[in-house]
Amino acid sequence: MIALGSDHAGYPLKMEIIKHLEARNIEFRDYGCYSDESCDYAVFAEKTAKAVADGECEKGLLFCGTGVGISIAANKVKGIRAACCSDEFSAEATRLHNDANILCLGARVINPEKAVKLVDLFLDTAFSGDERHIRRIAQITALEDNFGK
Ligand code: RB5
Repeated sequence: MIALGSDHAGYPLKMEIIKHLEARNIEFRDYGCYSDESCDYAVFAEKTAKAVADGECEKGLLFCGTGVGISIAANKVKGIRAACCSDEFSAEATRLHNDANILCLGARVINPEKAVKLVDLFLDTAFSGDERHIRRIAQITALEDNFGK
């Protein structure tokens, strides 16, 4: 199950990705927003990130204008490693190296065709499991613990 969330700026790209997930028969839950009426990205970052952190959904996809604001907000939720990507290399590498559990995309940065490619790479790439990457992720988790996330 994939968790989806966006603000108004990300909403049109989220709807394009929903069509793609449906075509691929990938199950998803949309945690809002549900229109292009102006709203606040942190609200939907929280709902979506919690669904991933709680294990309700295995991964998440978040959308705002740049992908940046919604990624900053999602990364405040303990256990979330949200990656804002606009190129194929980063979307794949953040799964292999960071075991990122949320991909954040900017609807004002990339077009739907590029977004589909990044989503597919993100969803279809497994974490490498390499010892050095496990160690580095453990250091991120320690930062969460030390700074009271
Ligand atoms: C909304 O106008 C815009 O600021 C938001 O979608 C996002 O780009 C913030 O980082």
